[in-house]
Amino acid sequence: MSLLDDESLWSSSVVANCAMNRERGLASYRRELGIDLPLTAGTRWVDLCCGSGKALAEAAREDATIIGVDLVDHHVPARPGLSFVVAPVDRWEPDAPVDLVTCVHGLHYVGDKLGLLVRAASWLAPGGRLVANFDVAGVRRADGTPFGATLTKALRDAGFTYDNRKRRIGFLGHGQPRLPFVYLGADDKAGPNYTGQPAVHSRYEDED
Ligand SMILES: C[S@@+](CC[C@H](N)C(=O)[O-])C[C@H]1O[C@@H](n2cnc3c(N)ncnc32)[C@H](O)[C@@H]1O
Repeated sequence: MSLLDDESLWSSSVVANCAMNRERGLASYRRELGIDLPLTAGTRWVDLCCGSGKALAEAAREDATIIGVDLVDHHVPARPGLSFVVAPVDRWEPDAPVDLVTCVHGLHYVGDKLGLLVRAASWLAPGGRLVANFDVAGVRRADGTPFGATLTKALRDAGFTYDNRKRRIGFLGHGQPRLPFVYLGADDKAGPNYTGQPAVHSRYEDED
């Protein structure tokens, strides 16, 4: 089968899908990410695939910086401390180190999921934290078969934590993790993942 490049993926009906939940509030973010999200003065938080940004608006405070990034320009009104960027997360990066990077049910739709995780870890300030919903089953070999334990081992060897049951990935502190896989392209015909929504499989081959 032919795999999609980034531009084709962004206009795929699986990614530009109005049935997906873009409206989670802060309580839902706390549950999904398993963190308290106490924003203290000076905190810099980037939320990738932020959807409407409802959770961010609920957390916003003048003395913290929150940036929500999404392909779709459909946000709650910005407020002091909160801004939105309309861009593919695959091409965007912050202009200064950040204390927190989150991605709530967004990686399921991203093409190069592993590349984004590696880049996001590199944005962290010392002591910073990355946490995201992530399903290793969405990362596949060129022939469509799952990497299974090979992938979870590679993630852990690179310094990521991965909770198989909660399908949650994390990284602590500034890092330059290396994952030995080469991105090939995306499959938007993979069907529903564990969330029940159609998701995108990302195909990789081993780096050698
Ligand atoms: C299921 S929604 C989750 C939204 C929000 N995090 C929430 O929980 O309410 C997934 C979001 O990912 C966005 N998205 C998908 N692929 C993206 C990409 N490559 N770059 C930026 N945003 C993307 C979609 O536009 C959508 O708003």
